[in-house]
Amino acid sequence: MVRKFFIGGNWKMNGSVAQVKSLVEGLNGVDIPSSTDVVVAPPFIYVDRVRTHLKREIGVAAQNSYVKASGAYTGEISPEQLKDLDIDWVILGHSERREYFTESDDFVGEKTAHALAAGVSVIACVGEKLEEREAGTTAQVVTRQLKGVADKIKDWTNVVVAYEPVWAIGTGKVATPDQAEEVHVTLRKWLADNVSKEVADATRIIYGGSVNAGNAADLATKPNIDGFLVGGASLKVPDFSTIIHSRL
Ligand code: G3H
Repeated sequence: MVRKFFIGGNWKMNGSVAQVKSLVEGLNGVDIPSSTDVVVAPPFIYVDRVRTHLKREIGVAAQNSYVKASGAYTGEISPEQLKDLDIDWVILGHSERREYFTESDDFVGEKTAHALAAGVSVIACVGEKLEEREAGTTAQVVTRQLKGVADKIKDWTNVVVAYEPVWAIGTGKVATPDQAEEVHVTLRKWLADNVSKEVADATRIIYGGSVNAGNAADLATKPNIDGFLVGGASLKVPDFSTIIHSRL
């Protein structure tokens, strides 16, 4: 089955008004292939500005959202509020949120369900730590994290799964195409066995972790790698553009 290539740019907690302006201007000049979905995720405070000025061929994501529509939850943002600003995507379960903000598998699943119900599509992240890989528990960890999502949702149409090995994030130590493909196959098989064959075939599983202009094309040759979630390199328009065009 042909799955549409998906490229996400996670800006994390980076940028200033001036940098965001320059990134948006740069991205507006990038040709977006019709065969590829491109979504960028600025920090919350810039999301509205980016959506207003960025061309519509590029989607905008938040980097997090909460499990309530509104109320006394200081510092949180709801998917309903994202929708109100025309933001169609959210990244959930990123390893930095799991690690620094102690988000559990269950909570990530709850957030995913709430975002989908509000009409916001989800990039749901999973990934093992170095010690888990070394202990041989990678498959166990990523499928447990995926189950956290599967337990809470029925419809996978608007979900993209991002496999991001923690040891590869921001380290310059990218997974080899074979290492990434092996985990993507595991995740797809888990979906086939535990959700349905249709969902397994249709769901995009993208890779994240030190993807750059030099390694994306090689990773993109793998049949189960349906795109990338890019951190550092998404802050450099020429590099991000090369990654967007890595599977043409
Ligand atoms: O969300 C993106 C990932 O954490 C990858 O970040 O490309 O800087 O390694 P990176």
